[in-house]
Amino acid sequence: MRKNIVVGNWKMNLNREEGIKLVEEVISLVSTDNNVEVVFSPSFLYLHKVNKMCANYNLLQTASQNISHNERGAFTGEVSSQMVNSLNVKYTILGHSERREYFNETNIELKQKVDLSLKNNLEIIFCCGESLNQRESGVHFDWIKQQLTESVFHLTEKEFEKIVIAYEPIWAIGTGVTASSDQAEEIHQFVRNVITEKYNENIAENTSILYGGSCNPTNAKELFSKKNIDGGLIGGASLNAENFTRIIKSF
Ligand code: PGA
Repeated sequence: MRKNIVVGNWKMNLNREEGIKLVEEVISLVSTDNNVEVVFSPSFLYLHKVNKMCANYNLLQTASQNISHNERGAFTGEVSSQMVNSLNVKYTILGHSERREYFNETNIELKQKVDLSLKNNLEIIFCCGESLNQRESGVHFDWIKQQLTESVFHLTEKEFEKIVIAYEPIWAIGTGVTASSDQAEEIHQFVRNVITEKYNENIAENTSILYGGSCNPTNAKELFSKKNIDGGLIGGASLNAENFTRIIKSF
């Protein structure tokens, strides 16, 4: 049975004090027996602190927003998967469109990050999604399939169990324009079919596929009601405890 998951991607927002306050508020508002895994993804700087705050709650977890594609060594300013794992953090987000766009991350580099994450016991929230141009020219299905094929489909069945997919149409991220629940469901169904083709139905049925892109307390219920949408990767709306909690309660 696949899990429902809601991830708060703080991006480069919130200082330490604000982050701690947000986590405290969410913990006080959310019931921890509601069968939704809640994942905070703060800056590397507070990952340790936030992870400690979540340590007593099975359903509260943390994720780094990225890791280096190098294992260790002279790479000033980089953070390795092994370092993140040494904090007992469960996940790393990989392949967010902002990293692909502003930091030129390619499918090949992401494959290296995927392998290093798994080697160091990090589970992965792997992002994929198309631009508006790609959608309008009808290449979005092929594009998403290629992102998966080149970065995660080399994994064994056992390894693939550590992957959560996040479908994030670039045109919906931070724009206030959400994919309609039917548009999102169409891609989620497609991703599940592609996983079935590559692996098998059992693996596909057990893979959580999250939607990301202007998901908020108003549209979350409709999105999460779809058969193949198992939660959300939330940016802007995860920075406010009440909004984030309302999204968590939208299943
Ligand atoms: P948004 O960001 O919710 O602010 O659109 C989502 C994301 O980038 O993960």
